[in-house]
Amino acid sequence: MTHEAGWAHAPGALRGPSWLREPADPNALVPRLWSSTAHKRDGELVIGGVPVADLVADFNTPAFVLDEADFRARAAAFRDAFAGYHVYYAAKAFLCTAVARWVVEEGLYLDVCSDGELTVALRAGVDPARLGYHGNNKSYPDLRRAVATGVGKIVVDSFAEIERLGRVAADLGRSQKVMIRVTAGVEAHTHEFIATAHEDQKFGFSIAGGDAWKAVEAVLAQPALELVGLHSHIGSQIFDTSGFEVAARRVLGLHARVAHDLGVTLPEMDLGGGFGIAYTSQDEPAEPAHLAAGLTSIVEHECRALGVAVPQLSIEPGRAIVGPAMCTVYTVGTVKPVSLDGGAVRTYVSVDGGMSDNIRTALYDADYSCTLASRGSTAPPVLARVVGKHCEAGDIVVRDEFVPADLAPGDLLAVPGTGAYCRSMASNYNHAMRPPVIAVRDGQARVVVRRETVEDLLATDVG
Ligand code: LLP
Repeated sequence: MTHEAGWAHAPGALRGPSWLREPADPNALVPRLWSSTAHKRDGELVIGGVPVADLVADFNTPAFVLDEADFRARAAAFRDAFAGYHVYYAAKAFLCTAVARWVVEEGLYLDVCSDGELTVALRAGVDPARLGYHGNNKSYPDLRRAVATGVGKIVVDSFAEIERLGRVAADLGRSQKVMIRVTAGVEAHTHEFIATAHEDQKFGFSIAGGDAWKAVEAVLAQPALELVGLHSHIGSQIFDTSGFEVAARRVLGLHARVAHDLGVTLPEMDLGGGFGIAYTSQDEPAEPAHLAAGLTSIVEHECRALGVAVPQLSIEPGRAIVGPAMCTVYTVGTVKPVSLDGGAVRTYVSVDGGMSDNIRTALYDADYSCTLASRGSTAPPVLARVVGKHCEAGDIVVRDEFVPADLAPGDLLAVPGTGAYCRSMASNYNHAMRPPVIAVRDGQARVVVRRETVEDLLATDVG
């Protein structure tokens, strides 16, 4: 520390993003980033009553640590806040058979979007009637299996699919409940949303362009399909309800037109997922109760204005349930100061995972945070960049974070908020073996997804 106001004020010092504050104590956790049981005991991170060193002794690193009590509490919080709704957990965020069982035990439904996710749900014993099935390109075999197994509702996304599904259901002698994925011309991310007339993307039937209306007619023309409602999903990592308000107005407009012009009362409506979580100290997500109050009042207000009854509503949160319930534990391998133009030095901390277990930083410029998990430190904070071990300069896990200046090889680092879209989007890049998911609860740890082995990697390589 060469400057009286601290190292960050020294000439040539690195500046992090404006939202990142130098912490008074770099050992302290920011509670809203972590699962509810996570805390430090004598400097060591403890989750679900299990000290992180014990987890690593038994299961090694990198590893995802899933706080079961926290996952269940978040699922229950959505269930209770959205009482009267059907709450579908979005499996794409993260799914394994244990999680599928917890979801059902907590009274939720499950949204799957592929034959693989359907298989895991069925293997977990989920009642197919509690499943919603998404996807913009479901094949004939996908649809046949979904209908034959009795999937509760299928969300159709193209005219080809409507025709295909009508044929499948007729062939199987079934009546299949269907929702239509519509595009409301609203795209929401975090605090911002964009409302436009057209959307240049692959999902949904455009309301403004007229395809949504034609899709309603097409589904109604299929004798084996039962149209139960419209479905809209406007984006992800959304922090307020203003985007939902515009979307709900447009979707309910179509819903009311179907009632008035066709005399068909659609009993349901699905508002999708996308509720945001805190990845770093800059994020302040809303509580489920606040979201529920906002969405319900928007829908009730619009329905009153349109003279239609409020349909049975559904939502599909994924990230907001599993995201904060998991963290990733890595071992530090190297700490490398790198001199930059202008005289500043960036500290690169390499860990034993990276873009193969968290692609979100590289793919979406996502921000994460981390903490030294294996011990406390009295060293001053230093701005660091946590990187993985892959052969790629963009292999960044945490772009900017203050860590204790004495961080060293062998230390454990934990990154919170990795429950959603990290293990589920993990890859074998550089023939990395994907990390396990270790569920912790009441002082016990158990593997719910095991670490991949070299045999797993070679199993598909048939020479
Ligand atoms: N429902 C539908 C129809 C969806 O497409 C999605 C997410 C969800 C629900 C759940 O959204 P959530 O509540 O988890 O935000 N890989 C990206 C996110 C992709 C989201 C795709 N659809 C990421 O890592 O941010």
